[in-house]
Amino acid sequence: MNRLKDKVCIITGSASGLGKSIARKFGEEGAVIAVLDFNAEEGQAFALELSQNGVTSMFTQADVTKQEQWRDSVAAVIKEYGRIDVLVNNTGIFKDGSALTSSVEDFKRIMDVNVNGVYLGMQAVLPQMIRQQKGSVINIASEAGLIAIANQIAYNTSKAAVIMMTKSVAVDFAADGIRANCICPGRMHTALVQRILDSAEDYDAQFKLMSEDRPLMRMGTPDEVAMGAVYLASDESPFATGSVLSIDGGYACV
Ligand SMILES: NC(=O)c1ccc[n+]([C@@H]2O[C@H](COP(=O)([O-])OP(=O)(O)OC[C@H]3O[C@@H](n4cnc5c(N)ncnc54)[C@H](O)[C@@H]3O)[C@@H](O)[C@H]2O)c1
Repeated sequence: MNRLKDKVCIITGSASGLGKSIARKFGEEGAVIAVLDFNAEEGQAFALELSQNGVTSMFTQADVTKQEQWRDSVAAVIKEYGRIDVLVNNTGIFKDGSALTSSVEDFKRIMDVNVNGVYLGMQAVLPQMIRQQKGSVINIASEAGLIAIANQIAYNTSKAAVIMMTKSVAVDFAADGIRANCICPGRMHTALVQRILDSAEDYDAQFKLMSEDRPLMRMGTPDEVAMGAVYLASDESPFATGSVLSIDGGYACV
């Protein structure tokens, strides 16, 4: 129950989906949570829910693609809690398309949120972790960063970049006591996946397709991924850095 006791954790994109599950699990383990999202209404409501459940928490609004908003959010968290132990870069967006069907605007937007957003987050938080000579960065990539999934060139590329950024930070800041790891989740039934299901011509066929394309023959749950994040955030993983943790029902093995 206290695997993250008093660790101050910023979790991006935690007004929804996987980020919410990570925040809940971290809270159950005694962490202090800063919910960072650009959706103020949902983010504030969620931070309040955490507080009502006994978790010390705050909301900070930021668009992860904006450097100055990162700066303000990090300053607000340090002002409130005095330190930052864990950064979970969870925000990510998806849109399908090949090199010919993906618009340049969509490609750039996905890169901006999924790649630049993670980069800017690490850039904003690392100086505080260096001052502390301790910190854990967890970046949420995807199975799509390991295997080229059909018709999603921008998303695949962005998530491969997240994996390499993680390794780069692991190498560059190991001497400062900072660990950086990433998780490659497989498909989970979150709002992001619900949007894909809702836009399918045949919902049931799409649901079956999205469930049965991997050795374990089902979608994962956000909680199953959150458990991996607890491990990487905690002091149970002091020798783990630069690692790529697949939690995907075996999808990336094939
Ligand atoms: N859902 C899946 O099956 C799946 C599989 C593999 C990896 N992932 C990855 O997991 C992460 C979370 O996915 P999810 O399914 O929970 O997504 P989601 O769409 O449910 O939630 C994304 C959250 O990010 C926030 N957000 C979006 N753009 C933002 C921005 N520019 N600045 C700040 N906040 C922003 C949204 O408000 C929302 O709260 C993503 O990185 C995604 O790529 C998801």
